[in-house]
Amino acid sequence: MAEEKKDKNCLECQKKKAARWREDFPVSWESDNYVTRREMVKFLALGSLTIAGANAVVAGLPYIAKAAEMPRTRIALASSIPVGRSKLFSYPTHEDPCILVRQPNGDLVAYSQVCTHLSCAVIHNEKENALFCPCHHGYFSVDEGRPFAGPPTRPLPRIKLEQRGNEIFAVGVEIA
Ligand code: FES
Repeated sequence: MAEEKKDKNCLECQKKKAARWREDFPVSWESDNYVTRREMVKFLALGSLTIAGANAVVAGLPYIAKAAEMPRTRIALASSIPVGRSKLFSYPTHEDPCILVRQPNGDLVAYSQVCTHLSCAVIHNEKENALFCPCHHGYFSVDEGRPFAGPPTRPLPRIKLEQRGNEIFAVGVEIA
């Protein structure tokens, strides 16, 4: 018993035990740290991608659900929107505010009016030919709906348009 106690307290014996353990399981602490850091970066990158993907799916869910039953809604007369002007409308339901803009080249484009940052309503800034969100100064291009300034990172959902004679119809929603 006393012998065993002595053995436990013997520093030399403990070192020998540790050495035997290290022979069986050799660990290089430098490379171990390196691998751990790399794995952490991989984990963070994959985690970020997963969260971004989930956000896109969640943002698109209402439109995906409605895609099968997108109505065809008359939203304006083409002649009533001069170059550089805009018109507000709702699509696909009365609770989905949208904006129709006549670009300087004469083309009509329409987007959801709900900012992709924190859902404030974007407005048309005629001077800068952009869609502007006054909440946090987010800017979206009129021609593609892509964010180019401020906090938004996702483009505005685009409303598909069809023109028949002088009448403009909204016929669907595209999520980029
Ligand atoms: S809600 Fe539009 S920029 Fe923040």
